[in-house]
Amino acid sequence: MNIFTLIAFMVFFSIGAEETCTKITENLHYSCMGRNLSYIPLSIPSSVQKLDFSFNVLKYLQKTVFPVLSFLHLLDLSRCYIKGIENDAFYNVQNLTTLILTGNPITHIGPGCFNTLCNIQRLMLVDVGLTSLQLHMNNLTKLQELKVGTNNIQFMTLPSFMSTFKDFTLLDLHANNISIIKNYHTVVLREMSRNITLILSRNPLLHIEPGAFKGMYLRKLDIRSSFVSVAAQNVGLNALYGLYVKRLIFGKFWDDYKIYLSDTDFLDGLCSIYFQEVYYFIKDKPNQQDNIFRCMINATNVSVKGVLIPNGASMPFYKIKELNLISSHLDILPGKQLSHLHTLEKLVITHNNKVLGVERLVDIPKLQYIDLSSNQITWYFDCCPSLLIGTPQIRYLNLSLNLLVSLSDRGFEGLDYLEILDFHHTRVVGIGFNSYLSNLKYLRYLDVSYSSITFGNIYCFYGLSSLNVLKIAGNNFQRDVSRYIFNNLTSLEHLDMSYCRIVELHPSSFKDLQRLQLLNLSGNKLMILDFLAYSNLNKLTSVYVAKNSITSIPLNVLQKLPTNLSVFDLSSNPIDCSCSQTDLILWIIENQKVLKEPNDIICTMLSANSDFRATDFDVDRCVNKKRITIIILICFLTVIVILSIIVYRFQFYLQYCCILLRGYRSARQQECSYDAFVIFSSYDEVWVMNELVENLENGFPPIQLCLHMRDFQAGKSITSNIIDEGIMGSRKVIVVVSQHFIESAWCRFEFELAQSWFVMERNANIIIIILEDVEEKKMKKMIGLHKHLKTNTYLKWSRDTLSSEILDSAAKSYYCRKTKILHLNF
Ligand SMILES: *[C@@H]1O[C@H](CO)[C@@H](O)[C@H](O)[C@H]1NC(C)=O
Ligand SMILES: *[C@@H]1O[C@H](CO)[C@@H](O)[C@H](O)[C@H]1NC(C)=O
Ligand SMILES: *[C@@H]1O[C@H](CO)[C@@H](O)[C@H](O)[C@H]1NC(C)=O
Ligand SMILES: *[C@@H]1O[C@H](CO)[C@@H](O)[C@H](O)[C@H]1NC(C)=O
Ligand SMILES: *[C@@H]1O[C@H](CO)[C@@H](O)[C@H](O)[C@H]1NC(C)=O
Ligand SMILES: *[C@@H]1O[C@H](CO)[C@@H](O)[C@H](O)[C@H]1NC(C)=O
Ligand SMILES: *[C@@H]1O[C@H](CO)[C@@H](O)[C@H](O)[C@H]1NC(C)=O
Ligand SMILES: *[C@@H]1O[C@H](CO)[C@@H](O)[C@H](O)[C@H]1NC(C)=O
Repeated sequence: MNIFTLIAFMVFFSIGAEETCTKITENLHYSCMGRNLSYIPLSIPSSVQKLDFSFNVLKYLQKTVFPVLSFLHLLDLSRCYIKGIENDAFYNVQNLTTLILTGNPITHIGPGCFNTLCNIQRLMLVDVGLTSLQLHMNNLTKLQELKVGTNNIQFMTLPSFMSTFKDFTLLDLHANNISIIKNYHTVVLREMSRNITLILSRNPLLHIEPGAFKGMYLRKLDIRSSFVSVAAQNVGLNALYGLYVKRLIFGKFWDDYKIYLSDTDFLDGLCSIYFQEVYYFIKDKPNQQDNIFRCMINATNVSVKGVLIPNGASMPFYKIKELNLISSHLDILPGKQLSHLHTLEKLVITHNNKVLGVERLVDIPKLQYIDLSSNQITWYFDCCPSLLIGTPQIRYLNLSLNLLVSLSDRGFEGLDYLEILDFHHTRVVGIGFNSYLSNLKYLRYLDVSYSSITFGNIYCFYGLSSLNVLKIAGNNFQRDVSRYIFNNLTSLEHLDMSYCRIVELHPSSFKDLQRLQLLNLSGNKLMILDFLAYSNLNKLTSVYVAKNSITSIPLNVLQKLPTNLSVFDLSSNPIDCSCSQTDLILWIIENQKVLKEPNDIICTMLSANSDFRATDFDVDRCVNKKRITIIILICFLTVIVILSIIVYRFQFYLQYCCILLRGYRSARQQECSYDAFVIFSSYDEVWVMNELVENLENGFPPIQLCLHMRDFQAGKSITSNIIDEGIMGSRKVIVVVSQHFIESAWCRFEFELAQSWFVMERNANIIIIILEDVEEKKMKKMIGLHKHLKTNTYLKWSRDTLSSEILDSAAKSYYCRKTKILHLNF
């Protein structure tokens, strides 16, 4: 075989191993359960300590089945169709301490097969077709438990060598075929330790030889449904005389035989057995047993279930510490019989199917624990101090699942040490409007769920400084009592106020609950959860707000949720899945680990019956929408800014356009009030006044000039003045061109306005006077003027040549409209 085949081989097997067995703890614990395997896979490391190989197909166990697994101590071979076990089958797994062979149809067991297992402690041969306990296991000296239930064993005789097995503690023989127990069957058992549990339940016992168990010490004896008839049980119990057993369990699992009223003495045999604890369970219809407790009076624990106990049955227990009467069909709490039991510590009377009356329990000084739940008790007045008199040690009181309990002004007087108080599903009268619990400074647990309470007084829980767990589900709150009622409950860790019809909670409701870990508010009508963010609940780890009316949770609340939150149940709320809720939905998607049932967070949609999950919501779509909106906004702003810049930059031209439009519209109605409008820079004012005005206005005929500083109307804007008074109010325009003129924005504006105006009017009514030479370069800046000068004639001023005469004649010619302009030659 070359190296590649070897590698391929290894790869194949390591893959195969991963497919066949489950690793539970690396190198230590593997499970190959139910893989239809007929061999131990190579992938199981030799260091394995626990191997579950149940529900496979092994058929015959022999040496080659198991590789050497020296550390294996637990091997489960349940239901592997094993038919035979060879002598050396377990040779390679010698260090097993637990071997489970349950449910194999074994027909052949090699006589020495178990003897290699010197360290075995627990051997399970349940349902393997065993017919005898005579197994070859001399070497199994460390054996502790031998479970051989559900076989066909007829005799409980243990092999004699087992008497030296010091650690042996359990022999389970349930559901075998043992009908007779003789003295010599129990010899070995009697010689063994005093700490053995013997289970003989569900055997068809007919006869026990009297004295077969005499002087035997057992830790526990279970003989439920172990006798074929009442008579057999009667005789059988008597035959057990002299047995010492710590815990005796008897009664019936099945309705296999009926105990009649006439069988009054059938429990008498118990009187000759020494036991401390007795459990008597009956599964079927109740049986009236008058003297049921006669032989149990020396027991410390008595538990009776399903047995009909007549009213007034005597209970003269001497040493009793714990008494359980379950489903006993009592009409009345047997207060008279139980009073004055000075040793009683724990009393449990539950599941009576009748309406139970109550008699006081008086003078039971050691009573600590009393459970009277599920009894249909109705207690109309002063429940607890008058029910329990002289029971100063009471720490646990359970009155749940009854009908009604009333409290009075005495509250819990005399029960100051109560730690646990449970009234759930029992109507409790008087607690909501008073501070009846105020003396219970040790109370740790209070359950008044579904107790028809209306909390109307903020001092209901006054004084409960040790309270750890408070359950008040299914009750009501008046007005804003919930805001103050939890004040001072500084030890509270667990608060259940589900189904209390709460609409809103004030953040200060929980201000003192710094240690709160669990808060259940399911099934209320809450719409906002602000109180979670603003109550300083640092320790909170679990919050349940399922089945409320929460449509949204704002981001600031989500961000302020307690840091150590590990369970947050938000299911069954009408979450509004819209783009305005992307924060919440993103939070839901990101925190699925924390959220309980994240898939149950359903969006409320317009159509009622759709169940669209919040986790399926497409947040990207919202993000895109947002993006597009932002982009459009930016574009819009940019356009506005650009427009503003343009408007600012070209404000004159725009104004000018407006004016043109306006002027054009009203042009024809205007009468000219001036002959000429003079456009000039104010620096040239002296020349204008001295030369132009002087010569023209005072000439003949006088030419009326329009000068901006003199003739513009006050109060009108400059542009309006230019257009109304100047250009439109005058027949001609005289432009005085100078260095200053070129530099002045206003002058340029006026000139261009005039020029375009006359272009529109198709008149060439502009007279240009060049006052001083202007550089060509500068002139070119004013395209309009430059062009005009090139295509039209103009006047040029020089100190001596521009005579008034010329001007005069020039002015005269203005009157003649058809004349274009003076053609003057200088
Ligand atoms: C179990 O394995 C055997 C062969 O080892 C095969 O014949 C049988 O069909 C398998 N059964 C199942 C349920 O896979
Ligand atoms: C039982 O134990 C002894 C000593 O520990 C050993 O020599 C003997 O081989 C064991 N018996 C079997 C059947 O393995
Ligand atoms: C149980 O034992 C009796 C004898 O004591 C025998 O007749 C009967 O067949 C056995 N039952 C089974 C199921 O082995
Ligand atoms: C008796 O056996 C039980 C296990 O069944 C064990 O926990 C207990 O310690 C043993 N007591 C004595 C005294 O050996
Ligand atoms: C209860 O114990 C006393 C002795 O402590 C004994 O005399 C009496 O017979 C015992 N009663 C029963 C029913 O075991
Ligand atoms: C009170 O009894 C009821 C019914 O038996 C049980 O469910 C509940 O857990 C008990 N309360 C406490 C605090 O143990
Ligand atoms: C809380 O304690 C303060 C001071 O001890 C007290 O004044 C107040 O009444 C208490 N409030 C409640 C609701 O118990
Ligand atoms: C949160 O949990 C961590 C670790 O479990 C713990 O160290 C820390 O103190 C907790 N924070 C609060 C506020 O309880």
